Amino acid sequence: MALKPDDTVCFCFKVSLQKIETFCKVQKPKYASEISDCLSAGTGCGWCVPMLKKLHGQFCEPYTPPWRVGQDQAPVVRERPPTEVNQETWASGRQEYLAEKKNNPPPKSAPEGDQKSS
Ligand code: FES
Repeated sequence: MALKPDDTVCFCFKVSLQKIETFCKVQKPKYASEISDCLSAGTGCGWCVPMLKKLHGQFCEPYTPPWRVGQDQAPVVRERPPTEVNQETWASGRQEYLAEKKNNPPPKSAPEGDQKSS
């Protein structure tokens, strides 16, 4: 089963698949990161960022920056549509992501004076 238009893609900001698709078709963002302009999607926990990148590839035209026009480029590879995951699986994946993230905080740098001298 696939994500349906009303299913949530970004849980942090409650952004649906339909909102993202409409944003992409109307605003035509060049880069996936610009989808964050759609109700801040992807700027919370980060879980949905890979999905937003895939949706950008699915809904938006590929963009070639002016400095790369005419250069040999690798062919654009479209990934499998991410909407093949259903809402329940997508939501439970986020819960696992958050649990893993909480249990694995970023490493802290050692405070000054904590280093051993030889
Ligand atoms: S689910 Fe989109 S930023 Fe958290």
